[in-house]
Amino acid sequence: MKILLIGSGGREHALAWAISGSPLCDQLFIAPGNPGTAQCGENVVLDIADHAAVIAFCKLHGIDLVVVGPEGPLVAGITDDVIAAGFKAFGPSKAAAQLEGSKAFTKELCAEFDIPTAGFGRFDNAEAAKAYVASQGAPIVIKADGLAAGKGVVMAETLEEANAAIEMMFSGGLGAAGAEVVIEEWMIGEEASFFALCDGRHALPLASAQDHKRVGDGDTGPNTGGMGAYSPAPVMTPDMERRVMTEIVEPTLAGMAKRGTPFKGVLFAGLMITAQGPKLIEYNVRFGDPECEVLMPRLKSDIVPAFLAACDGVLDAFDLRWSDEAALTVVLAAKGYPGTPEKGSVIRGVDKAEALEHVLVFHAGTKQGASELTANGGRVLNVVGLGRTVSEAQKRAYQGVDLIDWPEGFCRRDIGWQAVKREQG
Ligand code: AMP
Ligand code: GLY
Repeated sequence: MKILLIGSGGREHALAWAISGSPLCDQLFIAPGNPGTAQCGENVVLDIADHAAVIAFCKLHGIDLVVVGPEGPLVAGITDDVIAAGFKAFGPSKAAAQLEGSKAFTKELCAEFDIPTAGFGRFDNAEAAKAYVASQGAPIVIKADGLAAGKGVVMAETLEEANAAIEMMFSGGLGAAGAEVVIEEWMIGEEASFFALCDGRHALPLASAQDHKRVGDGDTGPNTGGMGAYSPAPVMTPDMERRVMTEIVEPTLAGMAKRGTPFKGVLFAGLMITAQGPKLIEYNVRFGDPECEVLMPRLKSDIVPAFLAACDGVLDAFDLRWSDEAALTVVLAAKGYPGTPEKGSVIRGVDKAEALEHVLVFHAGTKQGASELTANGGRVLNVVGLGRTVSEAQKRAYQGVDLIDWPEGFCRRDIGWQAVKREQG
């Protein structure tokens, strides 16, 4: 088969690595890709926002399957257009991608189909939003409705912070994403990410992971796209996984199908495991980044037939095998991230980290020059360690990190702390 993968982050390097290992994959193209994906297939220069150009590429190369990594193209309807042109595409339709594209859409779906989530109100003007906050009290969570690159959530500890966030969003601080605001109850518990593969009617549980959203050690500082992750998440016991499937994922699939917008692709549930049970924080309609970098190394089965089964609606007859090993990834970011990262600094020693046993390196914002690898984004590299326990995986990941010579980069030194604490009893 000829496969086209869309995207250029660490998630896409992990996906390219898994796809290129499939005996079904004869040729893999990645658009636009990164220096890591170039080791798994052929990077192609394609404007992925130009769907006609993507379709023309599929025709020219006889592409059998398009796999879409990031949310941007999904929310823009790339799968609708590619499928309408007669190609197979893995990922949700534009209508189904609203599960990530609009927080208000998801909250209404939860209300309609009894899916446990935080209590909420939605507002299109600051006055009503402030009145609601005043009636609910703090702490409280203020969210921009639309996609805001991970910056659209303000955890307000006081009424003043809540009102300031409302002002910021309605005065255009987050662009169009803040034209509508969702205000939520602040839930208490442990967070986990859970992934399920969906074919419109059936959901196949994948695995769980735990992300580290804050930029600094001890979960301090601003939110980022994710500074590291591990899988599995110990809080997702088999019993909890069953509850998440029956109380959250399956009602969502049934609800989306009932509305005439069936969900196909990867459903990524951001969960809060509260004293009352699992509650949905939010949905994403794709693999997480960096979560994908710890899921793919644990997957023992071929991912390509799983993508095809999801496209074809036959996941009920499907099964995937997972390694019992833990995987942990540490993100190396350029200084300045999540603000404005410095670009162009030279990175050395990636080959030394890659040479370690039980260690993998996935590229994100890197650039390959004639002889040097340089930083070209905020999150730049992922160093993944594998081990029998999270503690062992963590030790190996940091051994890899310490072989990389990049003074202009930084990472958190405590990725996996919750699981390690648990393991140490
Ligand atoms: P989101 O972009 O919706 O995933 O929110 C980003 C982060 O904010 C989540 O990973 C949680 O840590 C936190 N968060 C969002 N909504 C809530 C909520 N209602 N209660 C507690 N924490 C929340
Ligand atoms: N790591 C969180 C995300 O991919 O949205």
